[in-house]
This record gives sequence, C-alpha cells and structure tokens, in this order.
Amino acid sequence: GKVAVLLGGTSAEREVSLMSGEGVLQALRSRGVDAHPFDTGRRPLWELKEQGFARCFIALHGRGGEDGTIQGLLELLRIPYTGPGVGASAMAMDKVLTKRLWQADGLATPAWRLVNAPAQVAEALAELGAPMIVKPAREGSTIGLTKVMEASQADAAYALAARYDDEVLCEQFIAGQETTCALVEFGGQLRALPLIRIAAPQGNYDYHNKYFGNDTQYFCPSGLPAALEARIQQLCLDAYRSLGCRGWARADVMLRAGDDAPYLLEINTSPGMTSHSLVPMAARAAGVDYAELCLQILAAARL
Ligand code: DAL
Ligand code: MG
Repeated sequence: GKVAVLLGGTSAEREVSLMSGEGVLQALRSRGVDAHPFDTGRRPLWELKEQGFARCFIALHGRGGEDGTIQGLLELLRIPYTGPGVGASAMAMDKVLTKRLWQADGLATPAWRLVNAPAQVAEALAELGAPMIVKPAREGSTIGLTKVMEASQADAAYALAARYDDEVLCEQFIAGQETTCALVEFGGQLRALPLIRIAAPQGNYDYHNKYFGNDTQYFCPSGLPAALEARIQQLCLDAYRSLGCRGWARADVMLRAGDDAPYLLEINTSPGMTSHSLVPMAARAAGVDYAELCLQILAAARL
C-alpha cells in the first residue's frame, strides 16, 4: 500500500527533517515503494487516514515528531510507523528522563543537574566543573547548546537553552573522542552497526558542522581497538533496551580521554538521514546501501 514519508514538522530541526525526508522518499521510490511526502507542519494529520496511507516512515526530528506525539496519533489512527513507540520516543526526547533511566540501569552517563534559573547554572558549574554543557532537555542537533567555560557565561547559556525548552540541563563535559552507534533491526534481529568516530574542527560538532560543513572527519571503521568497540556497542544495545526502543535508533557516546571510558549522551529515536548523516554511513560500512537501509527500517514499521 501507499507509504507516507513524514517530514518537515514544526520543530527547530525542521530543516534537517526536510533533508532526511527527501532522501528517504527518493530511496524508497527507487526501490519501487509507492512513497509520498507528507509535511506534518503544513497539512492536517487526519489526511493520512483519509488518503489511505498504509504505513508511515517517520523522518521527523525533535518535538512533534520524535517525541511520541505523532506516534500516539498514528496509534489512534491505526497506521503502522517506523521506529520506537510512544513511550520510548517520549523518554528518549527528554535527556533528563533518559539519564534517570540509564542511571537506574547502571549505564554510564555524564553527571548532570536540572536548572530553573541562570543562577543555578553557575551553581552547577561549581559542582560539575568546567567545561560544562548547557542545553535544552528536549532538543536535537546541538540546537540551543553552549559549552560553558566560566561562570560569566551562565546567563547567556541559560537564556539560549531556555529559548527552546523550559527544562534546561547542565551536563559535565567529557573531553575525549565523540562516537556514535547505529542500532537497526534487520528482519526482527537488532544489530549494532560499526561505530563511527567523529573528529569535528576544534572538537566542535555543532549544527553547521553536522549538516553543512565539510571539515568534520568521520571514521568508520572507527579505528578503535576491536574489544573497546565491542564494549561500546554492547553499552548502546543496553541503552536502547533500557528505554524500550524498537525498529532503529542511534546512540551518541563520548570516550573519556586517558582511559576511553564510554559515557552515553543520548539516544536519537528518529536519527538524521541526510547525505551527511551517520546511520547511513554506518550502514554503508556494514555493506547496506542507503536504499536498502530505508527498506529495512520500513519493513520494521508496526503499531
Ligand atoms: N537529531 C538529529 C537529526 C540526529 O541526531 O541525527
Ligand atoms: Mg539528538
């Protein structure tokens, strides 16, 4: 039947989603799927039912797309969709909730504080030490994020994060190597794909360097010792299961300089699928091309 590729939306990651969705749409069509774009920011969602879509590929990022709300609507409309369900999507979107669950399961994540006022950012800095990351609890693509080096930056960092969310998270910065692990179900079997190691200019893997710059280096294979890579992949599988994910997701992990101790940063339940994106890169390294990856993700769509 007809497949809707949900894209656009209304979050701060709308632009990224349009790129992800366009890629997915063309890939599915190239493999004979009757796929159609559906911009959830521009069209009423009940049209999905009226127009007889049999399944949805969710290529939305951020709130209103990756946070369980669309997933809940599709449950009610009885239209199967890709990726994690309502609860896992909502938990993964909220970095504070995610950290609480991981800590309860004994999975390493950087120390953190939830703050409600600029003065508390300075207090958190005194406790967690510099550098410290200040970011909205429910946002993606490093939007609204500041790396705070000293207390004088606290007010501006808080104000920026608070523009995107009323929950602001302070997180200890783990200096070291940035890695990410794609987790994809192939025929019902969950697999951790080869790890990607990311070396951004000045260690600054920000919005520009994620989607538009050409100076970020990606290593896949990662070049890390095999035993370490296997340990990180296992940590990411545990992180995925801890939140109750399904279908696919991508876990971001920092490796602490010196001892390579891995720290989980977050799980993305609707990871980017742009030409610069990481899950397609990891799939390629595993011998799965972009179109085949899209088909596999779609095949795992369910209610
Ligand atoms: N939030 C972006 C889309 C990602 O993690 O890929
Ligand atoms: Mg994210």
